Amino acid sequence: MRIDKIKVKNAFNSSVETYAANNSLQNKTGTNLINFIKNYKDNFTNILDIGCGVGNITNLLSKEIINTSILGIDISSNSIARAQSKYNIKFLVNDFDNIKTKTDLIFSNLSLHWSPNLKSTLENMKGSLKKGGMLGFTIPVKNTFHELNDFCNIHKFYESRDLEEMLFQAGYRNVYSKNSSITIKFNTFKDALMSLKNTGTNYTPKTSKGLSLKLKSLLKSNKPIDLTYNISYFLVEV
Ligand SMILES: C[S@@+](CC[C@H](N)C(=O)[O-])C[C@H]1O[C@@H](n2cnc3c(N)ncnc32)[C@H](O)[C@@H]1O
Repeated sequence: MRIDKIKVKNAFNSSVETYAANNSLQNKTGTNLINFIKNYKDNFTNILDIGCGVGNITNLLSKEIINTSILGIDISSNSIARAQSKYNIKFLVNDFDNIKTKTDLIFSNLSLHWSPNLKSTLENMKGSLKKGGMLGFTIPVKNTFHELNDFCNIHKFYESRDLEEMLFQAGYRNVYSKNSSITIKFNTFKDALMSLKNTGTNYTPKTSKGLSLKLKSLLKSNKPIDLTYNISYFLVEV
C-alpha cells in the first residue's frame, strides 16, 4: 500500500480519543524502547520525539531519560492539541521529514513506518543529529498482522535485516537492535479490525468476490482471532 501523508494525517486526526483509549500496545513498545536506550545511554541534552501522537510516551521519556530540553512533534494537529492540554512539555505540529533543528536523541515509537520513503527520512534525520547523536526507534516488521493477509491489504512492512541495511546505507553506525513479537487476542474478527481503526491503521479489504464473501462471513462470526505485532527496536549512532 502506498503511503499518502494526507490520509495518514486525517486518520490520526480523527482517531485521537480512540487512540488514547486503545494504545496499550504502543505504550508497551514505547516503555521498552526507553529502557533499551537507557541500557546504552541515559542522558542527552536535547530530545526530539517524532510522531509523538498524544504525548504520553514523550512524557515518560522526559522523566526516564535525563535531558535539558524535550520536544514532541506530530503531523496530526489534533494529537498535538491533546498532548499540549495534558503535559507541560513543548509539542509542535510538524512533519518528521521537515525537521530543521539539531538534536542529540531522535526518538520514535511506532511512527517511522508511516514514512512514504523511509530511506530518505532516515537520511534527513541523520542531518538533524549532532555529532555522536543517536536515533532510537521501534517499527513493526514483516509478518505483522499476518493473520489478515488473506483478507486485507495492509501496510507493507520491512524485514528487520533490510532496515539494518538501510540504516548503514544512510550513514548510521553501531546498530544495536532486538526483535520481539506481541500477540493480542480479540474476541471477534470485527473487534480486531476495530482496534486497528481505533489506533489509526488503514486497511482495505481484498476485492475479489470470493474473498469479500469470506470477509463478510468473518465479520459476522464470533470466533476469536489473534493479531501479531512483530516489533524491531533499533538504536543507532552518527
Ligand atoms: C502509532 S502512532 C504512535 C504515537 C506515539 N509515538 C505513541 O507512542 O503513542 C503514529 C504517529 O505517527 C504520526 N505520524 C505519521 N506520519 C508522520 C509524519 N510524516 N510526521 C510526523 N508525525 C507522523 C501519526 O500522526 C501518529 O500520531
